[in-house]
Amino acid sequence: MNTPRTAAAKWRESGRRPLGVGTADAVIAGAGPVVRPGERATVRLRGGDGEEPPRYAPEWLTLREGADAAARAEDALDPLRIRLAGLPGGLVVHDLGCGTGSMGRWLAPRLDGAQHWVLHDRDPYLLHFAAAAAPRTAADGSRVTVETRRGDVSRLTADALAGAALVTASALLDVLTRDEVGTLADACVGAGCPALLTLSVAGRVELGPADPLDAELAEAFNAHQRRAGLLGPDAVTATCEAFAERGATVRVYPSAWRLGPDEAALTGQWLRGWVGAAVEQRPDLRERAEPYLRDRLAACAAGELRAVVHHDDLLALPGGTP
Ligand SMILES: C[S@@+](CC[C@H](N)C(=O)[O-])C[C@H]1O[C@@H](n2cnc3c(N)ncnc32)[C@H](O)[C@@H]1O
Repeated sequence: MNTPRTAAAKWRESGRRPLGVGTADAVIAGAGPVVRPGERATVRLRGGDGEEPPRYAPEWLTLREGADAAARAEDALDPLRIRLAGLPGGLVVHDLGCGTGSMGRWLAPRLDGAQHWVLHDRDPYLLHFAAAAAPRTAADGSRVTVETRRGDVSRLTADALAGAALVTASALLDVLTRDEVGTLADACVGAGCPALLTLSVAGRVELGPADPLDAELAEAFNAHQRRAGLLGPDAVTATCEAFAERGATVRVYPSAWRLGPDEAALTGQWLRGWVGAAVEQRPDLRERAEPYLRDRLAACAAGELRAVVHHDDLLALPGGTP
């Protein structure tokens, strides 16, 4: 965990505040931005050894919730419903890294039957939001209840999932390491529990109109995501391998954000975070990235920018196909 902190520290020590990307404490790759004068930080850098882990601002999670909901792969729900249909009683669902609970708000009303959601996160502030805005009703009108659990989901065990019908996560895998994903697969397969792991970054971005700097920034951003052994854009492949090695059937579904003029606020915030992380990874890009970001934000504000940010959803079914 030292590498990103070192890079951030160097950037901070340089005294430069490029791109309107704010203080160095404000960015984590893929999580969006950051601080402009007078603005609250939405996220901050992953800490090094002995420091607290990064925290995600509820404002950022709220800003992306609509695009996330539109992107999530409905196709993954058919095999999941078949698997869940045979289970007796209500469903216990564990949502890992729940943030403010957007996964539950999307999924609970799409599944039939009484559900009890166990919302896991290490951030008690986000758990508070998740509990307050939890879904109440299933697709067929059955009751949905929730409880929260504060802790590190990268240490989850099969015992902790005893009795679970389903494990979910959203925008989590890319901030885990290969070992942590292996632990997660162990826990799910050990508990015989399907896993719907959504919205992992795929490392591909399409911007329209295109710009010659797009590819270089994307490459630097992806490198930033992989810092300190985090999976970043390798998350889906690594997770598929982990579950398949443990005998699960795995399916992958595309779940891209498709951002146009109606999502200008999200696109602008995402752009600041994307470019900011790229420059943090490759400070030599700063000079070209500043006018790039300025022009991109102007196009965004004018409703002239389109962005496709590719993600994938993954459904893992222990013990084979439904
Ligand atoms: C990008 S946010 C996604 C939040 C939410 N799932 C969503 O889609 O809006 C990642 C979340 O995972 C949590 N998280 C990351 N690593 C974690 C860990 N090892 N243990 C517990 N929570 C973790 C963070 O606190 C944050 O709430």
